[in-house]
Amino acid sequence: DLSSWLAYREQYVLVVTSTTGQGDLPDSIAPLFVALREKGGHQPALRYGVIALGDSSYTHFCGAGQQFDALLQEMGAQRVGDLLQIDATECPEPEVLSCPWVEQWAGLVEAG
Ligand SMILES: Cc1cc2nc3c(=O)[nH]c(=O)nc-3n(C[C@H](O)[C@H](O)[C@H](O)COP(=O)(O)O)c2cc1C
Repeated sequence: DLSSWLAYREQYVLVVTSTTGQGDLPDSIAPLFVALREKGGHQPALRYGVIALGDSSYTHFCGAGQQFDALLQEMGAQRVGDLLQIDATECPEPEVLSCPWVEQWAGLVEAG
């Protein structure tokens, strides 16, 4: 929730979200997104990464992760590394891509 998020506003956050509907955020994360958009304010000290799960047979591929990334950019946060987009049609086991990506991301975090 927003209060937990704000405890990290000068640290690092890794957002992991699948996409539902038509490029929409799942119910488990949508309230956080809305709270950040409405009350999150400016967060220039926040650094973050995004892992976006999706399926390229849908029009808005990985739309939820892209929306989250765009919101954090608007809030002035700094993304560490590239957005990881995992396509369920090509990669039925997301951990195969996400585990090495997280290790690489942690290296970028440690490098500061
Ligand atoms: C009802 C439904 C709608 C979806 N809509 C999208 C979409 O708009 N864009 C997308 O990239 N993936 C979409 N997906 C694919 C899921 O994001 C993808 O399968 C993901 O890996 C599911 O992860 P989860 O099982 O952890 O929720 C949709 C899946 C379902 C079942």
